[in-house]
Order: sequence, then structure tokens, then C-alpha cells
Amino acid sequence: MPPAFILGIESSCDETAAAVVSAGEKMVSNIVASQIATHQPFGGVVPELASREHLRAIVPVVRQALESAGQTYQSIDAIAVTQGPGLAGALLVGITYAKALAFALEKPLIAVNHLEGHIHAVLLEERQKGGFSGDDASPHGSSVSGGELKFPVLALVVSGGHTHLYLARQKAESWTYENVGRTRDDAAGEAFDKVAKLLGLGYPGGPVIDRLSAHGDARAVKFPAVQLKHPDRRTLSADAVKTSATAEDHGPRFDFSYSGIKTSVLRYVETHNMRDSIEARRKALSSIAKPKLEDYLLHCDRETLNLIASFQYALIEDLTNKTLAAAREYNAATVFVSGGVAANQELRQTFERKAAEQGLPVFFPSRPLSTDNAAMIAAAAYPKYLARDFASMEFSAEPGMVLR
Ligand code: KG4
Ligand code: ZN
Repeated sequence: MPPAFILGIESSCDETAAAVVSAGEKMVSNIVASQIATHQPFGGVVPELASREHLRAIVPVVRQALESAGQTYQSIDAIAVTQGPGLAGALLVGITYAKALAFALEKPLIAVNHLEGHIHAVLLEERQKGGFSGDDASPHGSSVSGGELKFPVLALVVSGGHTHLYLARQKAESWTYENVGRTRDDAAGEAFDKVAKLLGLGYPGGPVIDRLSAHGDARAVKFPAVQLKHPDRRTLSADAVKTSATAEDHGPRFDFSYSGIKTSVLRYVETHNMRDSIEARRKALSSIAKPKLEDYLLHCDRETLNLIASFQYALIEDLTNKTLAAAREYNAATVFVSGGVAANQELRQTFERKAAEQGLPVFFPSRPLSTDNAAMIAAAAYPKYLARDFASMEFSAEPGMVLR
């Protein structure tokens, strides 16, 4: 059987993306139209503007993805699209266009969970490099030798909208997921974005804080360790535990909470009278079209750089410690880290160091595949394509879609 070429479409938040992936393991094209410039003046994603920008971009982005893959509308084998979670109006643009294409071209349509997409970004790239062969996860087998993927996989999806921990296992061609941790308030990426906004650094905050942190002293400001008011909200009766088979139902929770760190930064700013210098920085940076690292450094004093580095350190310590504690608790054999925040330099290094101490292999996507893209959607669709798990024309956007 020749490899299937799947066209992936992603429009869940502020990136309009399309990609072609063959056999779930070879990215043939990957086009991402970012809306950052549109949302930047508002300091965050404005849902109505996101939908409008998706409408504008979707046709040219899909066309470009097909062209650069050397494919045509007729030659692709299936169309995959993000069903959720995400912004309702934004999701609908991708879904409606995918449906129209599938109907007109008489191609199968596959609905994909965005979070599963982030997890499959790791698989896609490892297989492309020749890794994870000989594992059960490769339904068609791979000729290139490489490390074997061992289950269960503990996957941390950490982005602007999510901080989720999933225990993933393989069932026939598909994967199943149990959620063993999630954020109780702000997602990690959201905390990066809010702290950056608070410090006059613009939007999105993650990439700027990532680069500036290297210039500050991460031990200068001590943040209290993250405390959850109710460490395990799901404590069940002994009888309920006996009848429940899943970790999601009764296993220990590894939930996150980042609004406290954000409030600590705010308190620091207030007690150290930093308001005026923040306002000056905000003004200066907003007058530069595309500020470079030197521009940020020029407008950040030592105290600010130390605060930024200390914030990032506190957040990463919590994220890595909790994830690796969950890996120990659930005997995970492999750790995946994906989503926009997985692009963070210090996060990667910390995970690599701490996971190695535990003898655990940890995998990340490359930076372009860490943030939202459609290659991950096309890759996650492949097992569904093999299983002929196609969506009906009636399916709709699921803004709060859960992953199972
Ligand atoms: O996965 P993504 O593109 O979109 C969502 O599904 O949310 O993630 C975007 C988030 C933003 O909050 C952004 O600030 C954060 O990822 N981010 C980073 C980095 N690059 C993007 N956070 C920390 N360090 C980075 N290098
Ligand atoms: Zn995402």
C-alpha cells in the first residue's frame, strides 16, 4: 500500500496552519500563518479577530501547504482537522473548510483533538529521525533502526491554554489517555504571558522571558513553593476505588496552579516601586516594530532581569518536579513534553537533567513543532485513517473537548 498523504488543518487559536504528512511520520510540508501581530496591541488573543484572520488565511495557507508538498487537492488521501479544544469561532473556520473540501473532493474527513496533536508532534519527529522503530506504536513498521518507544508514556502538554498531564497507552493502532494532572487556574503559558504583560514586555511573553532569563539571577527572588488548597480533590471512597479501574478516576493527582506565582510577581513590583519603570519600558518597546534582544536588555534593569529569571525558575521547578513525580508514581517508561512552553530553553535543559537522574528518556518536538501547527494534526490523524475512524459531515467544534 503506498503511504497515505494526509492534509492537516489547524485553526484552534491564533495560528492558521496547514500541512501534509505522509504515513504519519514524514512531514512533507508545514505552513503556519501567525496572527501575533494582530493580537499584540491587545496583549492577548481576541477571539473575534482570530476568527476573522483565520477566514482570511485559510485558503492561501492550505494551497501553500499542498504546493510545497508537491500535492494537489485531488492527490491527497484524507483531510484532518482540529475539532477542539480551542476558541469556538476559530475552530469553526478550519472545520467548515475541511468539511467543504472533503465533500467536494470525496475524501475521508478525520476529526483530531488538538492535545493529541501536540503529543503526536513528538512521535512524528522521532520517527522522521528514524527513532521509535520496532515499537508497537509504528503500525506499518519502519525500516530505519532506532530506539524503541516504551509505554506507558507520560505526556505533559504545556501551552497558553493547557497544562495537562496524560498517561498514554497503546490500544491497537490508537493511543488512549488518562488525565492525571491539569492546571487549577492559569496555564503555564498564560502565566508567562501575564507576567510579561505586567512587566511591560509585550505579547506573547514566553519567548521574551525565555531569552531574558539567561541575563538575570534566577536565585535573586524567592517565590513560595506552589501550594494547592486541596491536593487531591478526587479522593474517593474505598468502595469506589475498588470498582474503578483507571488512574484518572482514583489515582493520585498532579495538578498545577500558577496564578499564585503571578500574584507574587505583582506584589514584588508593588513593594519595589517598579511601576514607573515598567510604564517607561512599555512605551519604549511599543514604539519599536520588532524589538530585538538588545532592545529588551536596554530597557530592563538588573532588578527586573532578576525578577524575570526567578519567575521562570520557580515555574519550571514546579513543572518539572511535578511531572517527574507523576512519572515515578505511575511507572512511566517515557516522558513527552510538548506545546508552546516546551520551546523554552531552560525547561528543556531542566527536564533533560532531572529525567536523566531518574533514568527516564524525555522527548520534545523541535521548536517549530512545539507551538501550534498542522503537521501534528495530520500525524495524529494517521492511526484514525488506518482504523477508518472517519468523521461524519455533522460533527462540530468542541471548544472544551477532553482527551481520552
Ligand atoms: O501551543 P501554543 O502555540 O498555543 C496554545 O495552544 O496555547 O502555545 C503558546 C504559548 C504562549 O503562552 C507562549 O507565551 C508560550 O506558549 N511560549 C513559550 C515559549 N514560546 C511560546 N513559553 C515559554 N518559553 C518559550 N520559549
Ligand atoms: Zn496548542
